Amino acid sequence: MSAQQTQPLRTFTPTEKSGRSIFQTRCAMCHVGQEPATEMATGSAERRPATLGPLLSKANASDETRLRQKIKEGSRLMPGYKHTLTDEQIAQVIAFMKTIERPLTRLAVARAGE
Ligand code: HEC
Repeated sequence: MSAQQTQPLRTFTPTEKSGRSIFQTRCAMCHVGQEPATEMATGSAERRPATLGPLLSKANASDETRLRQKIKEGSRLMPGYKHTLTDEQIAQVIAFMKTIERPLTRLAVARAGE
């Protein structure tokens, strides 16, 4: 079951780093896989049981307008962030999401880009 992490090692820009820490504190609890559920193909229907949040990757950032809207408004199952994140912070989260080649594990989120 060893989960192969294929996140490329690269240095994150300051914007991506800020986005990563926001993602870790605001999004990861619902949107990051738990090992060993890590090798799921982007777009997989597999979801975390506790929250039903789909595992996120750059695939979810292909339509930025829609993504920004989703983060701001949320849904019945997901909190909206229009009162808690600034437009700049939302842009940072989106920049970070674009670096996620495959859905991340909690561990990989913590390590990515270091
Ligand atoms: C309390 C859990 C929770 C948190 C926190 C949360 N989400 Fe969600 N999110 C969900 C659930 C559940 C869904 C699926 C239902 C839906 O689409 O509303 C979802 C859906 C999404 C989708 C749509 C994915 C798709 O394929 O349609 C995106 C994008 C998304 N979330 C991004 C984020 C981002 C970015 C954050 C952090 C700023 C975040 N979410 C925080 C629970 C959460």
